Amino acid sequence: MCCGRRMTGGMGENMYLTDEEQGVLDGQRGEPQRLALRVLVKLGEACGAERMVEIASAHLVASSYQIAGEAGIEIYSQLVAQGARVRVRTTSDPGSIDFARWREFKTPEQYAARQVKIAALLDQMGVIPTWTCTPYTTFNVPRFGDHLGWSESSAVVFVNSVIGARTNRLAAYVDLCAALTGRVPCFGLHLSENRRGEILFELTPDLAANFADHYFPALGYLVGQTVGDKVPVIVGLPGATFDQLKAFGAASAASGSVALYHMVGITPEARSLEEACGGRVPAERIVVGQREIAGIMEQMGAAADGPVDVVGIGCPHASIDQMRRYAALLDGKQVHSDTQLWVCTNVVVEEMARKMGYVAIIERAGAKLMVGTCHNDCPLGAWGFRRLVTDSGKFAYYTPTTVGTQCVFASTEACIQAAIAGKVERS
Ligand code: F3S
Repeated sequence: MCCGRRMTGGMGENMYLTDEEQGVLDGQRGEPQRLALRVLVKLGEACGAERMVEIASAHLVASSYQIAGEAGIEIYSQLVAQGARVRVRTTSDPGSIDFARWREFKTPEQYAARQVKIAALLDQMGVIPTWTCTPYTTFNVPRFGDHLGWSESSAVVFVNSVIGARTNRLAAYVDLCAALTGRVPCFGLHLSENRRGEILFELTPDLAANFADHYFPALGYLVGQTVGDKVPVIVGLPGATFDQLKAFGAASAASGSVALYHMVGITPEARSLEEACGGRVPAERIVVGQREIAGIMEQMGAAADGPVDVVGIGCPHASIDQMRRYAALLDGKQVHSDTQLWVCTNVVVEEMARKMGYVAIIERAGAKLMVGTCHNDCPLGAWGFRRLVTDSGKFAYYTPTTVGTQCVFASTEACIQAAIAGKVERS
């Protein structure tokens, strides 16, 4: 229930704003908040929001120099000079460098310096320097029903779907406006009526009974490509781990614009099909069997073989369970001298994995940790990579454009095998 008042004329004329919000617009809290709320009200009016909603936290994608660019540095510098501070817990997405190892990744010095500059500006605004696309595992863990102001498509789809928090896919800078004001306009996925499943994906019993780990990103890729920004509902899966849900969501958010999915019996707003669809009949029903999964994997380049320049795993950023798995697969092995194996993760998982001995095994095998960034965010032109192998649906979708490589999708085991052999071998 809104306790504000309808503004008559001027900014916010179509939205209810509280006295406090009106005060912010009048400049009572300084220029950064005034400007940020003004942007959010404009967005809200354009999207039919009736009011603002307070958020529990924010997550920023324009922490990366690749995304923020020089314009970002200029905007952040101005905001800092005006005393801007975030009003809610706010975390940073991966940056465009590994802060500790950028030289190893052949990042130009000047480029690294610009990312360091952004980091310093975000520090001054009170942003927690998590540099990860999986902030929901550590410092920014939403609760069911929390309203949020997040960007980063893979994180947005995870917190909406797996946790049951509520956020739209915010654009770069709009996320910062949310952080500075502690509010977002209330439309889209903040409203229950927009969270109902719209398109049903029904797995055939034989596929469900033999659902391999790498089918999660493949199914996510297929679902995203099919539904665009609609809300898909998946029925038939007997279960899914945290990392499988993460991989599914990231792929669906990349090949489509999925920001929320339901898996019946698995995700919290889908204890039944009826609950997932809010009592409505889905607009479409799509049956997915072995043939459809094989077809989408072929589209993701899974049928290719031959030499490999770089193998990318840990997208979204690897969890400690994934690090354990990588270490087990690499123990006593050696990455091929013509191939790079890069493991993307965040600094918290890195530290834990180091304590647990996984980092030593991974590095002894010749693989590199890529911490606080990833293949998609770093400038990798100096490497001249032509072919990348990955177990990530999101990398499979983006790296042909961002890194300019041909992409081969494979299971985690096959990725590591390709790194050791220096090539993909198909039986
Ligand atoms: Fe994260 Fe980079 Fe993948 S930001 S989701 S590791 S493309």
